[in-house]
This record gives sequence, C-alpha cells and structure tokens, in this order.
Amino acid sequence: MRPFGGAKKRIGLVPTMGALHDGHMALVRNSKAQNDLTVVTIFVNPTQFNTTEDLNNYPKSLDDDLALLGSAGVDIVFVPEVEEMYPHSAKVSIHFSGLDEILEGKYRPGHFSGVALIVAKLFHLVLPDTAYFGQKDLQQVSVIKQLVADLHFDVEIITVPSVREKDGLALSSRNRRLSASERAEAVILYQILAFAKTELLDGASWFDIKVKATSIISQNNLVRIEYLELVNCQDFTLASEVDSEIPQAICVAAYVGEIRLIDNVLLT
Ligand code: PAF
Repeated sequence: MRPFGGAKKRIGLVPTMGALHDGHMALVRNSKAQNDLTVVTIFVNPTQFNTTEDLNNYPKSLDDDLALLGSAGVDIVFVPEVEEMYPHSAKVSIHFSGLDEILEGKYRPGHFSGVALIVAKLFHLVLPDTAYFGQKDLQQVSVIKQLVADLHFDVEIITVPSVREKDGLALSSRNRRLSASERAEAVILYQILAFAKTELLDGASWFDIKVKATSIISQNNLVRIEYLELVNCQDFTLASEVDSEIPQAICVAAYVGEIRLIDNVLLT
C-alpha cells in the first residue's frame, strides 16, 4: 500500500538528525531531481549515541532547518518525538557480524544497531522508493545497504558525495561546535586524506603512509586521531594495499578538541 494513494508517486527519503547544512541539502536536491515527492525526517535518534553527553550536545536548529527545507521545496518534513519512534524501549537489536565492530563500530559500540533500528522504522513508515545518505558516513551507507539486502527492503540507496568547505573540511553538523581555533585545525583531516591518497596512488606503502600521517597529526595539539584506515568500500574490511579491482576508500576519525569528526576519500 502506498501512503499517498492515487497514481503511484516516487518517494525519496532523506533521513537527517537536523542541524542541516549544504551536505544535507545536496541529498535533498538529489531526491527532488529523482522523485515526485521528497520526505525529509529530522530526528535526533537516541539509540545511536553511545554517550548521553554526545546526545545532549548534538546541535539543534529546528526553525532554521524548516525554513531551509521550505525554501528547497521539500514536500513533507517529519519531525517525530522520541516517544513516537520509541513508544517502548526496543527489544530488537540489529547486528552486522563484523561490519559494525570495526572503525566507527569499534569506537562507537552500538552505534550502527541504533542507526539500523531507526532507518528500518523510517523505511516502514515512509515506504520510500529511494533513500539518500551522505558519503561522509561511508560505513553507515554500507551498513544500510546490508540492512536493505538482508531485510528485503524495496528501497534503492543512493550515496551522495560529501560537500566540503573551500579549504576541504567536510560539512558536518558537528562542525558548528568547533571553536575558531579548532575549526582552523580541523582541515587537517582532509589534508591527511588527500596526502594519503596521493602517496598511495604514487605507489607508497600503506604502512609507511599511516606512520607518516599519524605522526603529522600527532604534532597538532588540538587533534587526536582515532583511526586512519584503507578499506574495501563494499564490506568495510581493512586493506593494506591498493586493489584496483575493488572500490576502496581511506577513512579517518579524529577528535578536534572535544568534537569527534570523520571523513573519507574514495581511491578511484
Ligand atoms: O546520518 C545521520 O544523520 C543519521 O545517522 C541517520 C541516518 C539520520 C539516522 O539517524
């Protein structure tokens, strides 16, 4: 059954946690170009935060978000309360055997179970034909594609390239919590990715690149790296060398001051 009745309309879903920026708007633009109706959801999903502090500090700007979405011509904005999405604490917990235990999964235990739960709920409620996610959260995209495949959701997942500031910093809702000095230093994440990619494609060994890159970052007092890894984009297994047969990416996570940021670049 389709929620809008009448002739079947193509529905594009853009799930967000609000604090919208142009990265989100790129998802919206893609959805509007490819669908009859675009539904944006704004919900700061408590089950995907592994600390209460991170959940409480997540930036919120609902009035600005609604104005942005209105001027972009979004058809429906769904802003549920926690009690609506979680009328009781969920007993179901979704795991991804390995995929959710490395990189983001390792540093944010339970994060992907929470993401999968809310995305599954949103898919059931909105019944989209297509759903849009940003490449910045590359591992999340992989997890969601697995969710769709394993649970037979009839949804096409589109990954939209990251949008960057002029200096290369990937747009993120968390950027607005950076102080001026942290913002200035945060660009090192992109610089390290660009450096690592160039070196890798020039034939340097991944081991040497990691050592060099980690040592460059460790000279910066404001930045603390959590991981820098070369991964196979399909299953997020770690790689130790370039394999031109499979899509690969370099992924980084680091704290800039108290703010945890992630970024990635595709190798090809
Ligand atoms: O990428 C996000 O903003 C969130 O993880 C998502 C997909 C909206 C689920 O809460």
